[in-house]
Amino acid sequence: MAEQTTVVLNDDVSIPQFGLGVFQTPPEATAEVVRQAVAEGYRLIDTASMYHNEEGVGDALRDRPDIFITTKLGNGDHGYDNALRAFDASAKRLRRESVDLYLIHWPRPRAGLYVETWKALVRVQHEGRVRSIGVSNFNRDHLERIIGETGVVPSVNQIELHPRFQQEALRALHDQLGVRTESWSPLGRAAVLADPVIVDIAAKHGKTPAQAVIRWHLDNDLIVIPKSVRPERLKENAAVFDFRLDAEDLRRMRTLDKTDGRMGPDPATATF
Ligand SMILES: NC(=O)c1ccc[n+]([C@@H]2O[C@H](COP(=O)([O-])OP(=O)(O)OC[C@H]3O[C@@H](n4cnc5c(N)ncnc54)[C@H](OP(=O)(O)O)[C@@H]3O)[C@@H](O)[C@H]2O)c1
Repeated sequence: MAEQTTVVLNDDVSIPQFGLGVFQTPPEATAEVVRQAVAEGYRLIDTASMYHNEEGVGDALRDRPDIFITTKLGNGDHGYDNALRAFDASAKRLRRESVDLYLIHWPRPRAGLYVETWKALVRVQHEGRVRSIGVSNFNRDHLERIIGETGVVPSVNQIELHPRFQQEALRALHDQLGVRTESWSPLGRAAVLADPVIVDIAAKHGKTPAQAVIRWHLDNDLIVIPKSVRPERLKENAAVFDFRLDAEDLRRMRTLDKTDGRMGPDPATATF
């Protein structure tokens, strides 16, 4: 892989801009997939307690403290004391004394505990057990509330973001606040890859549709974590550091955005 880019977060932690997501990677296959990814040059792995595969990530990265690990606090672990316990359990499964990035997976506004939960993450960071703390699936209200009540700005908000759901308003807010945007389901779970505009842009650069979409995230300063369990796709998805999209490509990509393009749950109305 050609030289990868890194991004500096608002707490001075450097994070690779490209990595591997392991949602729906079977627990028993995870260690092998992560080892293959690292051999292909991946330097960031994105897991979560709710993926039930942190052990596999920890096993594969036992001798690789240099590989950046993100994990997330599960929906059943909101609340101050629960969050402290959940962090300890994740760190243990990952076999890490210190985790690189810890996120609240979903705000769960109905439960009403995300501010308390955020305070626990702030404490764990002060204790030096996590280098960087952030959130996932937070919208404007949730972000403003945790920042207003604690004064601590999350380093990252990991949100659904792909060519059919580009999240321009939330990205603009992140830029104002100093929060980095990380794209989940960056390939739109592969559903966007047959789009004629994407196929055309990929062909123009001699690349595959997945590579063109991953490059689109990178060229928009997003952190991107495509998932695959297949060795040939792990390799394909990482071969994105030898080209860039041009202004015309970016203009055409912007036309693919749809207000109803969301594939996953809406954080404001999710019932879990
Ligand atoms: N914070 C959150 O709430 C949240 C929610 C969802 C996801 N995420 C994170 O984001 C990561 C990525 O999202 P995702 O897994 O939902 O979706 P994704 O990365 O957009 O797409 C993954 C799908 O695309 C296929 N694929 C991968 N590379 C391909 C290629 N080059 N050509 C054709 N198909 C390809 C994969 O199949 P194969 O595996 O068979 O190759 C898989 O079915 C997750 O793993 C997770 O870490 C976070």
